[in-house]
Amino acid sequence: MDDVAQGQTAFRSALCDLEFLNRVTFGYRPTLRWLDRVVARTGATRLSVLDVGAGSGDMLRRIARWGSARAVAVELTGLDRSPAAAIAAREAGTPGAWIVADLFDLPTDARFDVVVSALFAHHLADDDLVRFLRWMDGHARRGWLINDIHRHWVPWSALWAGTRLLWLDPTVVHDSTVSVARAFTRADWHRLAADAGVAPRVAWQFPFRWAVSRELAP
Ligand SMILES: C[S@@+](CC[C@H](N)C(=O)[O-])C[C@H]1O[C@@H](n2cnc3c(N)ncnc32)[C@H](O)[C@@H]1O
Repeated sequence: MDDVAQGQTAFRSALCDLEFLNRVTFGYRPTLRWLDRVVARTGATRLSVLDVGAGSGDMLRRIARWGSARAVAVELTGLDRSPAAAIAAREAGTPGAWIVADLFDLPTDARFDVVVSALFAHHLADDDLVRFLRWMDGHARRGWLINDIHRHWVPWSALWAGTRLLWLDPTVVHDSTVSVARAFTRADWHRLAADAGVAPRVAWQFPFRWAVSRELAP
């Protein structure tokens, strides 16, 4: 999905299968649980939310449902550098605003109550990951969360076999195991956080994801 030469149709087909994988692997749960914690800690009844690398907006649509169920008014913004992601999100009825940009081009004074990202961090090189951790700190008022994969042979093997058995999109078949290989161990997150000078909470989430988060002002 990082191949900028990839056509829009292929990219959107991959996003569609990625949404399926998110659903069957409980990929939304770490983010929604963390939002529960933010609300319990702050008592917030309104939250502005930025989703970085938002893909087809499936997480934002889940957050919209979460907000309705909890009586929390959510003001949603998706950010993704791919114009095809913006089209897919709009067609799927994703509520809120959308920004087509590289995250590092977002104005430095743009701030949101919470900033979340899912299956995005492993797309960045190490230097940019350190920059990303500081970037999250700079753009979030109440806290931020990175929801990403645990680098481990179990998800690698499951995705290798599962994506082939289910005849998923060829981009997803290829990217799924590459993503696991580029993903993180707990030690990676501690090293990156130390380099960035931040102290996030690093929590393992079933099945094989990390929730790396920081809670800021109440
Ligand atoms: C694997 S997809 C994840 C989509 C979605 N968050 C999910 O959980 O399924 C990664 C997304 O990050 C976007 N992306 C990659 N690098 C980016 C960057 N530097 N700035 C903004 N978006 C980026 C890609 O266009 C892609 O849509």
